[in-house]
Amino acid sequence: MGGVAGARLAGAVSEAGGLGTLGLYRSAASDIRAAIEELSALTNKPFGVNFVPEVMHARELETSVDAALAGGARTFSFFSLIPTQLVGRLREEGSRVLMQVGSLQQAGAALESGADVLIVQGCEAGGHHRGTTALLPLLDSIKRRFPGSLILAAGGIASGSALVAILATGADGAWIGTRFVAASESAAHPLYKQRLIGAGATDTVVTTRYSLGWPGAVHRVLRTRVTDAEEPLPARFCGSVDVGGTRVPIPIGSVAVPTASTVGAVEDMAQYAGQGCELIDSVQPAAFIIKTIMAEAEATLARLTSLHTGHMTAGQRVEPGFGAISPGCPVQLETHQTHLRQP
Ligand SMILES: Cc1cc2nc3c(=O)[nH]c(=O)nc-3n(C[C@H](O)[C@H](O)[C@H](O)COP(=O)(O)O)c2cc1C
Repeated sequence: MGGVAGARLAGAVSEAGGLGTLGLYRSAASDIRAAIEELSALTNKPFGVNFVPEVMHARELETSVDAALAGGARTFSFFSLIPTQLVGRLREEGSRVLMQVGSLQQAGAALESGADVLIVQGCEAGGHHRGTTALLPLLDSIKRRFPGSLILAAGGIASGSALVAILATGADGAWIGTRFVAASESAAHPLYKQRLIGAGATDTVVTTRYSLGWPGAVHRVLRTRVTDAEEPLPARFCGSVDVGGTRVPIPIGSVAVPTASTVGAVEDMAQYAGQGCELIDSVQPAAFIIKTIMAEAEATLARLTSLHTGHMTAGQRVEPGFGAISPGCPVQLETHQTHLRQP
C-alpha cells in the first residue's frame, strides 16, 4: 500500500507470519534501498515489494526493480501486468512475481505473461481498482477457468470468516489492505485511522475524484466533501507532505494518501478504504490483527465442520440461506449442498 505500508508495517506483518509488503508505488531507487534496509533490520522473514507500473515509465520500472533486487527483495507484486521480458528477468533472479487482476481476461493475460501468483481483486477493495466485479464471483470464475493457478484474494477481507469464504472459493490466501491501514505500525495519518474505525461499508465510495497523479483511475475511498460534491472542487492546495526532507504541497484531488507526515486538511484527502472497514473497531498491532483473523477463521471452520458432520436443531444458529427449519427438524449441510448443485 503506497505511502502507508512502510518498513514498520511490513516488518510487523512478516514477523507475525504474513508476507509483509513494502508499498513502494513509484519510489526513487535510493528510497527503495533505504526502505529495504530498514525492513531488513526489523525482520529476517520473507517480505515483498510492490510497484504500480501504470504510473511509471518502462525505464523507471526497470530501475526500481533493479534497486529492489539489489536490496535483496525476491517477492515482487505489481498492481497490474508488466512486460513478459521483465517477468523473465525477475524469475531468472529467483524471484516470485505476483500480479493484481480484476477480471477473467486480465487473469489470463497475467498467467500468459508468466505471473507466479494472481492477486484477484474484487471491487469491495480499498484503493485503486482493477475491475468492477465483486470478489467471490470473480474468484470463482478465475479458479474454474485456471484451476492450477495460485491465487491470493483481495477486497473487503477483514475477518476470519471472510478468509474462510475466499479459501472455500478457491483462493490460496488473502491479500489484505484496509484492515492494516488501521494497524499501529501503519504510516497512515492518525485522523485517517480514526475515520476508518467509525466507518461502515456505505461510507466508502468508488470514484475518480482523487485522480491527480494517476489520471482517470477508479478507486474506493471514504466519502469526503471531495467525492460528494456535484462538481469537482476548485483546484487549490489543501496540505503538504514530507518527501525525503522536502515539503511537497498536496492539491485537492491528489492521489496522495495522508500519512503521519501530512499536514493540512486531511479530511479532504484520499482516504482509501475497502468495504471491510465496517469490521475495524480500533487501532491494533499488526500481529494482533493477524492472530485475531486466524482465531476467527479457526472458529468459522469449526462451525462449518459441525454443520457438515453433525445435525443442527432449530435452537442452534442458522445463517440466512440455509432454509426454513421447523423446531426439532435436523438440517444437514450436505443435503443443502446437493440441492445447490442441482438447481
Ligand atoms: C491505502 C491503500 C493503498 C493501496 N496502495 C496500493 C499500491 O500501492 N499497490 C497495489 O498493488 N495495491 C494497492 N492497494 C490495493 C491493495 O493491493 C488491495 O487490492 C486492497 O487493499 C484489498 O482490499 P481491502 O483494502 O479491502 O483489503 C492499496 C489499498 C489501500 C487501502
